[in-house]
Amino acid sequence: MDSFELNKIAGAVLGTCLFLLSINMLSGAIFHAKKPEKPGYEVAAAEPAAAGGAAQAAVGPVDPIEVRLASASAEKGANAAKKCIACHDLSKGGPNKVGPNLWNIVGANRAHLGNFAYSAGLKSMGGNWDVAALDKFLANPKGEVKGTTMAFAGVTRPAERADLIAYLNSLADSPKPLPAAK
Ligand code: HEC
Repeated sequence: MDSFELNKIAGAVLGTCLFLLSINMLSGAIFHAKKPEKPGYEVAAAEPAAAGGAAQAAVGPVDPIEVRLASASAEKGANAAKKCIACHDLSKGGPNKVGPNLWNIVGANRAHLGNFAYSAGLKSMGGNWDVAALDKFLANPKGEVKGTTMAFAGVTRPAERADLIAYLNSLADSPKPLPAAK
């Protein structure tokens, strides 16, 4: 191989490099990917506040459940309970599903059914499901009952929890007297 041939090869390699470089620059000019201002994506921390309602931040004062119940709607609660029925049957004498049957739950003992395998955490808690206990549990099941098997993130909106409790209360032969729940 003489030096002339070597030159030709070197020239070809160089030419290819130049060609690739210009393609790269050209495509960069055509397909310009806009970088996001902040890397990653944002996760909303709280559900948006109810329309018309005062902006209820994730932290901040929450009215006691008795106050919220006074303007709660069992009808809206029935709608919100769609989140529960994947795991809970709500009817009288209905079966246990992934979670226990919830007929007559307001005011019932914690771990109220003999035929459901509750977590040790819930069984050992004692006490009953009064409206305040339910409100706390539904806000944050895992935070409230250590080792609970209820795989549910919770209901963030305080007003929605009140609606739910008003609805649950209606699922009983003799609903408990609640503060003017509609
Ligand atoms: C993914 C399934 C699942 C969903 C969804 C779910 N639960 Fe549960 N729930 C369970 C399980 C499992 C238990 C038993 C927890 C334990 O033993 O720690 C339970 C327990 C409970 C208890 C205690 C019952 C008792 O006898 O002490 C209440 C009250 C309750 N759930 C209410 C609700 C409500 C209201 C909703 C909807 C907002 C809901 N759950 C959504 C699975 C679920």
